[in-house]
Amino acid sequence: MNRKITLALLFGGKSAEHEVSLLSTQNIIKALDRNKYSLLLIGIDREGRWRIHEDIKSLPTVPNLDFMQGSGESIILVSGEGTAKITSPSGGKIAELDVVFPVLHGPYGEDGSVQGFLKLANIPFIGSGVLASAVGMDKDFTKRLLRDAGISIADFLVFNCSQLSDIKFEDVKAKLGIPFFVKPANLGSSVGVSKVNDAAQFYRAISEAFEYDTKVLIEEFIQGREIECSVLGDYDPVASVPGEVIPKTEFYSYESKYIDENGSILEIPAKLPPDTAEDVRDMAVRVFKILHCHGMARVDFFLKKTGELLVNEINTIPGFTDMSMYPKLWEASGIPLPLLIDRLVEMAINRHERENKLRYSVSRAITL
Ligand SMILES: Nc1ncnc2c1ncn2[C@@H]1O[C@H](COP(=O)(O)OP(=O)(O)O)[C@@H](O)[C@H]1O
Ligand SMILES: [Mg+2]
Repeated sequence: MNRKITLALLFGGKSAEHEVSLLSTQNIIKALDRNKYSLLLIGIDREGRWRIHEDIKSLPTVPNLDFMQGSGESIILVSGEGTAKITSPSGGKIAELDVVFPVLHGPYGEDGSVQGFLKLANIPFIGSGVLASAVGMDKDFTKRLLRDAGISIADFLVFNCSQLSDIKFEDVKAKLGIPFFVKPANLGSSVGVSKVNDAAQFYRAISEAFEYDTKVLIEEFIQGREIECSVLGDYDPVASVPGEVIPKTEFYSYESKYIDENGSILEIPAKLPPDTAEDVRDMAVRVFKILHCHGMARVDFFLKKTGELLVNEINTIPGFTDMSMYPKLWEASGIPLPLLIDRLVEMAINRHERENKLRYSVSRAITL
């Protein structure tokens, strides 16, 4: 494509990670080469309404969340022959777009729902498709698929909200030991995640996790270093140098990720023996392939003192804030953010073209 590519950033969203998405979006906007891209900003508010933000010039270059308060016009996405169109509810055309970058974290964004919507609208989009997004968002399903492929994970139990009366501290303690972790199955940024040492903490942790999801995981505590690795690609993905998160708090909590600037240290690259770093990269690529990811993902590990490497989770739309590991690891691996975005856009367009060439009919029609 020689003309400018119209890139729509889809941000905000109906998720507890709404603010993280805004921070990621601001960072992406700063990095975008305006000679290559026309930018279209589509903000999703907390109620799930989609609005276009046309006033790009007034967008802050410094972190500030005010631009979500503007009451941009509500929009509808319409699939087109070539590019998709955005219209107002009355049908007036507002803009055409080439690619969507869902900069959305958590449910209603990273979980396949938006991906399914964009797929139906026949719009190229960055990142994984419906299946990998949904599986990657759900820690229970991610772990089951990885375990099936022989990848080490922490032992875990799963409960849904109808099983509340069955969840007993003593039973969990007997199965997983203490401390253990309680977390919502489908969320990120450590929202609703607790470390539990006793019964009082346990019941608080369970009720907090169920505020965010109808399914909750309880996991054995893994004593180890937290190593993360970024993956980029489609059918032949590559891994970045690994990084290490060194939380200063008891674990890598929401506060230590986004609120307290000194809450954690990111060590890039992680100080690892070369063989271990290679194992991390190989396993990150394996996980990406097992879960059928596309475009990008960050794979997070625990590295035990014994050298054993366990996969903690995958993030199919990793954070892109200026403190986020995903872009930082690529930067350290020789791919700065503007180039990273170029690659992601290119892959989204190629994948869309490839999928649109698939056959949608059989050669011998059924006669009715
Ligand atoms: N089983 C575990 N053992 C030790 N620490 C854990 C465990 N599970 C989670 N943690 C801590 O909690 C943080 C957040 O948990 P995680 O599963 O990564 O959820 P999120 O998707 O919200 O990031 C981790 O980065 C780690 O510090
Ligand atoms: Mg995590």
